Amino acid sequence: MSLLPTTSIAAIAGYADQTVTLAGWVYHKTDKGKLIFIQLRDGSGTLQCVVSKKQVPEAAFAAAQQLTQESSCRMTGLVRADARAAGGFELDVQAVQLVGASPDYPISPKDHGVEFLMEHRQLWVRSARQHALLRVRAEVIAAAQEWLNAQGFIRFDSPILTATAAEGTSNLFATEYFDLGTAYLAQTGQLYVEAGMMAFGKVYCFGPTFRAEKSKTRRHLTEFWMLEPEVAFATHDDNLRLQEDFVSALVQRVIERRSADLQVLERDTSILARCLPPFPRISYDDALKLIEANQGAIEGATPLTWGDDLGAPHEQLIASQFDRPVFVERYPAALKAFYMQPDPQRPEVALCADLLAPEGYGEIIGGSERIHDAALLEQRIRDHGLSVEAYQWYLDLRRYGTVPHSGFGMGIERVVAWITGTRHIRETIPFPRMLYRIYP
Ligand code: 4AD
Ligand code: MG
Repeated sequence: MSLLPTTSIAAIAGYADQTVTLAGWVYHKTDKGKLIFIQLRDGSGTLQCVVSKKQVPEAAFAAAQQLTQESSCRMTGLVRADARAAGGFELDVQAVQLVGASPDYPISPKDHGVEFLMEHRQLWVRSARQHALLRVRAEVIAAAQEWLNAQGFIRFDSPILTATAAEGTSNLFATEYFDLGTAYLAQTGQLYVEAGMMAFGKVYCFGPTFRAEKSKTRRHLTEFWMLEPEVAFATHDDNLRLQEDFVSALVQRVIERRSADLQVLERDTSILARCLPPFPRISYDDALKLIEANQGAIEGATPLTWGDDLGAPHEQLIASQFDRPVFVERYPAALKAFYMQPDPQRPEVALCADLLAPEGYGEIIGGSERIHDAALLEQRIRDHGLSVEAYQWYLDLRRYGTVPHSGFGMGIERVVAWITGTRHIRETIPFPRMLYRIYP
């Protein structure tokens, strides 16, 4: 015998005037004596279930009385259209079966501090807001992969245990690796997708990436998920065009398919709807001028000298000048990773760009054209104090049929934070890992 329900709450409209069995958890209960109203949630949605003392056997009514917040249960009843009900339907309950009790559920509808909720993350993910956020996350991930697949990209998975660094050596998580020395948790899959790109032309990897960053900001996780496309023969400009088409497609799909969740999150979607290509581009040099000209507009966005990195307030100031995401391109090469192609006209800058989200959500993408010349790449590896020996396999990609190529990495949590209008990225991943959090 199966315990599965007849239908999900999301599909309830197809069952009007039919008797169904639903299975789920009690989100909320109101006991009015002879009538009990139960908000049942089953993961796909919530539905008001009405248990009337007059209409159900005594045992069923007693079972309904026993239900507490987050008890799991199965309910059988008649689906009735009701214009007043949220979603347009209610269930007139005929039978109730308790499956798992839930005495003293720790998260009540009253306000809890975020630390308390984070300590109970395993339960918090059931709450309406968290549920909506994580659904949007799932949609972004599905949309990203489907869009890339439709454009002829091949998913090419990169390893998590790696022997070398790619994004600096100061933020590596290290672990012993048998007799082979130290292994590091991948900061990026990029170097490996470059190998895939030479095999398949257009590839992407998608997986968790790790940075032992001691930064306690609302944008940093120590474990985050990154999607990294890489394209053979693509120049820096091709790369930017791909990114704007990609990001706008993701946003439009979330608006289209997850509007109910965005509503729960009270997200103003008119700002998102404007996220259409082309996105504005501004050079690092012009960004410095813009910061200079707008002194005092945003706290902390103080003028910079050429060669300084942009801080979060600077990014916020730049983004505030535009109504959609903006590319900041051609940073000083010294600020960026060793593999970035220098601008042939101006070798002190790299053919790279960061994509800044509107409304102060900061950098959501980092990307660049890659160095395709073996000698120059080897020189850069040395300049960065890295071991040329360890990168022989990567240099091989430039020794055997090298081509100009470009790619980028998009952090899923930052994108979800922006799309959903969530200040802190810790809520955009089921179990965030941060400087001060490894539990649960
Ligand atoms: O700019 P980043 O460091 O670029 C790379 O890792 C390249 N190898 C990507 C590539 O070209 N294939 O990181 C890319 C993106 C950032 O724009 C941001 O969205 C996200 O990854 N990111 C983080 N997200 C959360 N927490 C952190 N600590 C992050 N660090 C980077
Ligand atoms: Mg970056």
